[in-house]
Amino acid sequence: SFSPKNIIVTGGCGFIGSNFVHYVVNNHPETHVTVLDKLTYAGNPENIAGLPSDRVELVVGDICDAGLLDRIVPGHDAIVHYAAESHNDNSIADPEPFLKTNVEGTYRLLEACRKYDVRYHHISTDEVYGDLALDDPARFTESTPYHPSSPYSSTKAASDLLVRAWTRTYGLRTTISNCSNNYGPFQHVEKFIPRQITNILTGVRPKLYGEGLNVRDWIHTEDHSSAVWTILTRGRIGETYLIGADGERNNITVLRMILEMMGKDSDDFDHVRDRPGHDRRYAIDATKLRTELGWTPAHTDFADGLKATIDWYAEHRQWWEKTKERTEARYKAQGQ
Ligand code: NAD
Ligand code: DAU
Repeated sequence: SFSPKNIIVTGGCGFIGSNFVHYVVNNHPETHVTVLDKLTYAGNPENIAGLPSDRVELVVGDICDAGLLDRIVPGHDAIVHYAAESHNDNSIADPEPFLKTNVEGTYRLLEACRKYDVRYHHISTDEVYGDLALDDPARFTESTPYHPSSPYSSTKAASDLLVRAWTRTYGLRTTISNCSNNYGPFQHVEKFIPRQITNILTGVRPKLYGEGLNVRDWIHTEDHSSAVWTILTRGRIGETYLIGADGERNNITVLRMILEMMGKDSDDFDHVRDRPGHDRRYAIDATKLRTELGWTPAHTDFADGLKATIDWYAEHRQWWEKTKERTEARYKAQGQ
């Protein structure tokens, strides 16, 4: 097994990256983290504020900046790459930053790892596999063919393929993980669960795309973190592992749970314009990760996790209030 002492976490001021930084600080005292983050609209240094300065250092910069990578990558033994443009709706409105960050950014990191012989773990998504029919008993596995639907997911698929090519051609030491939908603290209010919670907290009716029958496979972000650490330290080089926690639910069910937990009528929401090309269902079969590496999720009660997430947003109004206004103005302009 591999015990990294100095890691770079790209996108460590975003939702999942910052939760991973907290996870490493809390569980792996021998590891120092350098966060590399551009602080886009989705990055917030408050997400990692208060962590001990001898354990975590923030470098504000762009993963596409090869000169910056030459300065900071040497001396690190691994890069865990979370940085991305991550939101499907934004990618439909304006794909360009997705091409730049997700594809070119991954290429720059791979080149830096090749130059300085650094281990690389690539964070990706189940969306690279496209979608499943609602009545299909199948779930995604590591051998499901790639079939991405949106500008976002196609750039993530492209980045995964770059990683595989660099592994085979240049012998880079890499692993890839493709995870399902995360929820938990620090998630941007543009995403489904925080958007609806903060709508209710600000007296706005929640917004459901279409009929709300689309299924997502929810996993608590702390379980994603423990899975990534497991793969980084014990995964087989060159392999892909799917991460999921058997959390399939359709959107209308999740929305009604939120409404009821927040003391509202379960019909108290609006149907809004559906997402173009909206994927119907994602579902992960994580057998390989569970059997080969012995990983299991800790947050198995979705209702408990959702309740804690609602409490977190209720208690952290100043964290999201300003962003909320900007986000809703953008949604309003696109009829959502
Ligand atoms: P996020 O949008 O909350 O955070 C992205 C972070 O990356 C931000 O801090 C941003 O400032 C930073 N960033 C963006 N462009 C950058 C650049 N060019 N250089 C440096 N930093 C840059 O995203 P998230 O939801 O936390 O997703 C993190 C990763 O996990 C992404 O790779 C995403 O594809 C993947 N993923 C997300 C989910 C999910 O449910 N959200 C599920 C599976 C995989
Ligand atoms: O599957 C993993 C992916 O999950 C990640 O790769 C992405 O980075 C992440 O953003 C997420 O993508 P989704 O498109 O599934 O997440 P989002 O939160 O945008 O939407 C979840 C579902 O809820 C989707 O079916 C669309 C729907 N939705 C979304 C919003 C914002 C609504 O019905 N209403 C809304 O207001």
